[in-house]
Amino acid sequence: MDGLGDHIGNWGDTIPVTRRMRTAPLWGLRFRTLFLHDGRTNSLTTAITEHAGQGAAAAAAFNSLSSTSKSNLIAFLQSL
Ligand code: HEM
Repeated sequence: MDGLGDHIGNWGDTIPVTRRMRTAPLWGLRFRTLFLHDGRTNSLTTAITEHAGQGAAAAAAFNSLSSTSKSNLIAFLQSL
């Protein structure tokens, strides 16, 4: 499966519609150990780099950060 969508839809929905995914709230991340809708990773870095589709630019921007900036962003997310 590509992207972060779960392919859940109603009868007659197009494939793009079934790939829609509600943007997850990030507050409370510090209390969680598994991320993404299917809990497939325990890594915030992986959760970010898995962004595809409309989130692909965010993943690319993250990938281009220095390791210090990546650490700062992860620390920020873990403060929420
Ligand atoms: C600085 C930019 C971003 C960061 C740091 C970020 C971070 C994250 C993180 C940590 C999660 C996992 C949340 C959880 O498991 O509860 C997440 C999920 C998600 N993000 Fe982002 N995100 C960013 C930008 C975006 C953008 C631009 C989009 C789409 C336009 C997007 C769409 C989503 C969606 C749909 C999910 C849920 C995916 C799933 O549960 O499988 N994100 N994001």
